[in-house]
Amino acid sequence: MASEPLLELDSVEAGYGRAALVLRGLTVRVPPATIVCLVGPNGAGKSTALKVASGLLKPRSGRIRVNGRDVTGEGPRRMLATHGVAHVLQGHSVFPEMTVAENVAAGAYTVRDKAFVARRTDFVKELFPVVAERWKSLAGLLSGGQQKQVEFARSLMVDPSVVLLDEPSMGLDPKTAGTVFDQVVRMRDAGTAVLLVEQNARRALEIADIGCVLDLGKVHIEGPAGDLLANPDLADLYLGGSARAY
Ligand SMILES: Nc1ncnc2c1ncn2[C@@H]1O[C@H](COP(=O)(O)OP(=O)(O)O)[C@@H](O)[C@H]1O
Ligand SMILES: [Mg+2]
Repeated sequence: MASEPLLELDSVEAGYGRAALVLRGLTVRVPPATIVCLVGPNGAGKSTALKVASGLLKPRSGRIRVNGRDVTGEGPRRMLATHGVAHVLQGHSVFPEMTVAENVAAGAYTVRDKAFVARRTDFVKELFPVVAERWKSLAGLLSGGQQKQVEFARSLMVDPSVVLLDEPSMGLDPKTAGTVFDQVVRMRDAGTAVLLVEQNARRALEIADIGCVLDLGKVHIEGPAGDLLANPDLADLYLGGSARAY
């Protein structure tokens, strides 16, 4: 039996202002210690789904649950600090004029327990060696891939139950993207559930456990990521060419 999801978006409808709905009955479940990858064309609503999951955007209907608890309508601060849903946004969000140490510490700004913060700091430095190596550097001096790992480390400071990653490989060369994907696997292996959105669908499905193809605001196909990769129709439609030609 599949384990109870840690995070569940259930029949979510959401959009921006008076414009047409972007999410039209989206259902996604993220089990514990699992990488679930959302793929789909530009504008399909992938980033919008993550915004709803982290409380940045309120759904018009449907439910959000964390560990079976209904958290629909809660804002981003409570979603992070109380329910353990951390969101690493699309693009770069390090503070360039601050050190790596300060950037990582910023992830724990809601946490009062100093011993907890110290333990988490040791944990993320071990998980992301480059973060430890560049600890005293200004974050703006790091490469794009290194900055992404600083963002990952920051997101793990509260010991989240699930991390939402929006296009972490964007703008990175293939080798650096590979390192970043390896780090996503390490986060999962360390026990964090991951909801991953990627343009680089093939690479993302290669590291994911479960894949969901999103189109026009709802999930069209869902299954073990390996099955999605092996499906030639899907490859043609969404992965930039058939697996046979790869
Ligand atoms: N802040 C916003 N205000 C208005 N429309 C938006 C906003 N963000 C995204 N949209 C629209 O919502 C749709 C889905 O966008 P998004 O979730 O960013 O797609 P994806 O991440 O899959 O590329 C697009 O049509 C986009 O133009
Ligand atoms: Mg997006």
